[in-house]
Amino acid sequence: MSHIAYVNGRYVRHTEATVHIEDRGYQFADGVYEVIAVWNKKPVDYGAHISRLLRSLAEIGISAFPNPGVLTVIIKEIMRRNRLSRGSIYMQVSRGVAPRNHAFPPEKTSTSLVVTARHGVGPSEAQIKHGVRVSTEPDLRWGRRDIKSVGLLPNVLAKQRAVLKGAYEALLIDGDGTLTEATSANLWILDQEGALLTRPLGPDILAGITRQTVLSLARSTGLKVTERSFSLEEVLGAREVILSGTTTFVLSVVQVDDSVIANGLPGSCAMDLAELYFAHLNNPPANAWRIE
Ligand code: PDD
Repeated sequence: MSHIAYVNGRYVRHTEATVHIEDRGYQFADGVYEVIAVWNKKPVDYGAHISRLLRSLAEIGISAFPNPGVLTVIIKEIMRRNRLSRGSIYMQVSRGVAPRNHAFPPEKTSTSLVVTARHGVGPSEAQIKHGVRVSTEPDLRWGRRDIKSVGLLPNVLAKQRAVLKGAYEALLIDGDGTLTEATSANLWILDQEGALLTRPLGPDILAGITRQTVLSLARSTGLKVTERSFSLEEVLGAREVILSGTTTFVLSVVQVDDSVIANGLPGSCAMDLAELYFAHLNNPPANAWRIE
């Protein structure tokens, strides 16, 4: 079965799906994106992802965009044509095609919309069981990390540095020495007092949809959750270090650079939250396609 992509109004074979060389997404990274997990043929936290997409679009001043109802039809069709059961949907919106000029193109310029599907999502059994190693890298991103921009070069370079060190992810350290998040996941620590910490929302991090779900799940168990910034020293001295994200789910970090976290095994908090997250995936709300 060949993969099918949606590109600007057409469903085309993945191998033949192309955009124009003067697409502003290609030339300026002038666009935004979303990644939605699909679990047992249902999108995970669909409404929250669409809300974040609309917010990202509004923040960069893209107003001409198919309404969420139309987008939902396209995504359903992409899932159907790709027979997607467990995987992810990627969608990208750019400011469209126009002669290269930094200023916005004329109002009538159509935005570009690409939707693709990928089979398989989430960490491997071994990663869940043993946890993962990460490196730390400077956070060289721009000042609006809350916008899910396709301008991911600093993320790409940090991730590659991590990969070259044999690490699964890179934790990003801001100029003031505090941790922000990972290159494509949010970051949590369980401190020595048993409180779960994660950086507060704001321009320094992406407002992860999984982060929001994990926050609710953790609070529902009675765990104390505090949204505050923390330093590398606190990470290295933590009881547990945890990542969350659409493609990461909830994953324990057992080593940061050369430092082993606690006893080097996934901790009970990460295990419990991962289990709750799997329950969330396996028991979607009756109307999983609801747009918030
Ligand atoms: N990334 N932080 C960053 C920088 C991210 O890119 C992501 C997701 C997250 C987690 O957010 P969410 O829980 O909404 O997936 C946090 C996606 C998966 C990606 O770029 O592929």
